[in-house]
Amino acid sequence: GAAELGPYRHYMQKEIFEQPRVIGDTLEGVTGIMPELFGDKAYKIFKDIDRVLILACGTSYYAGLTAKYWIECIAKLPVNVEIASEYRYRDSVPHPKTLVVTISQSGETADTLAALKHARSLGMPYTLTICNVSTSAMVRECELAYITRAGVEVGVASTKAFTTQLAALFLLTLTLAQVNGRLTDEEEASQLKLMRHLPVAISAVLALEPQIIAWAEEFARKENALFLGRGMHYPIALEGALKLKEISYIHAEAYPAGELKHGPLALVTEEMPVVTIAPNDALLEKLKSNMQEVRARGGQLYVFADVDSRITSGEGLHVIRLPEHYGDLSPILHVVALQLLAYHTALARGTDVDKPRNLAKSVTVE
Ligand code: G6P
Repeated sequence: GAAELGPYRHYMQKEIFEQPRVIGDTLEGVTGIMPELFGDKAYKIFKDIDRVLILACGTSYYAGLTAKYWIECIAKLPVNVEIASEYRYRDSVPHPKTLVVTISQSGETADTLAALKHARSLGMPYTLTICNVSTSAMVRECELAYITRAGVEVGVASTKAFTTQLAALFLLTLTLAQVNGRLTDEEEASQLKLMRHLPVAISAVLALEPQIIAWAEEFARKENALFLGRGMHYPIALEGALKLKEISYIHAEAYPAGELKHGPLALVTEEMPVVTIAPNDALLEKLKSNMQEVRARGGQLYVFADVDSRITSGEGLHVIRLPEHYGDLSPILHVVALQLLAYHTALARGTDVDKPRNLAKSVTVE
């Protein structure tokens, strides 16, 4: 009811603003990298595996895609990420030393549960879930678990569940890296420090709300939008597009920016807002030339840059700067800005933000 909402207009907005706290809760008690955080048998299992298979649906699938970048880069283990409803019905090649990871807010998604059982039936016994509901079927079915502490998520469009999943997946990445001999003590200390600082860093992104509202008023008048990202921010572009379409009903697509010229550039006109995630990372210069391709066709660029990204606004180029560049954890900050953009665009269009048409919070049937 209204009392629960406090100063917020919708559960989604409240849940976006809860993220500093629930990420802190999810990482509470993590004083060092310890496999036991994932369960008693975690060390033995992590020692034995030589690859990872991630199974999930919807927003949770995008968390998995982000984790692939982290795990391959930091823990040096090969990762496959599969949409649960596809995996369960296709012939794949099982490998017994696979860590099967399901990601699920509810822990009850029928396709994800079935994909898990399918993987096990193919002879992959090592299972781990990143899940927000400790009493769920998913937690019961998996040998190992990390419970995210997002609390109850009411809005159908997932926000705080997603960022807590990312926090848990980053912890998993560091743990796999450590067991694999890929994490020095200094790296462990500096990554843990960054993780502990996340609540403060997210609060600084939330403070950008007024600037994002100004953009949302322009987006509300559009029928299409394109989202671009590269590397580990490509899954974040996918999630930003999903949020926008789920609650504002604007058609949105995401592309890795390097693919622009292989199709979506044909759609770019003055009517096409192009949201670009432009953190100050190794791909920034490449991304800038992708942005040029959009500008040359009259597309309107809406760029989420970092404070030191060296991109200046001008004709057809709007910039909002995130307060700091956040290294490997940057996706967690950038997605918060995209959640706010989707929320305020939907608000301006007057849609039912917390209960978008045709969608359910948890899909427990096929
Ligand atoms: C539904 C929800 C999404 C969610 C997906 C997977 O489609 O509307 O927000 O990402 O299910 O749900 P899960 O509970 O497995 O994360």
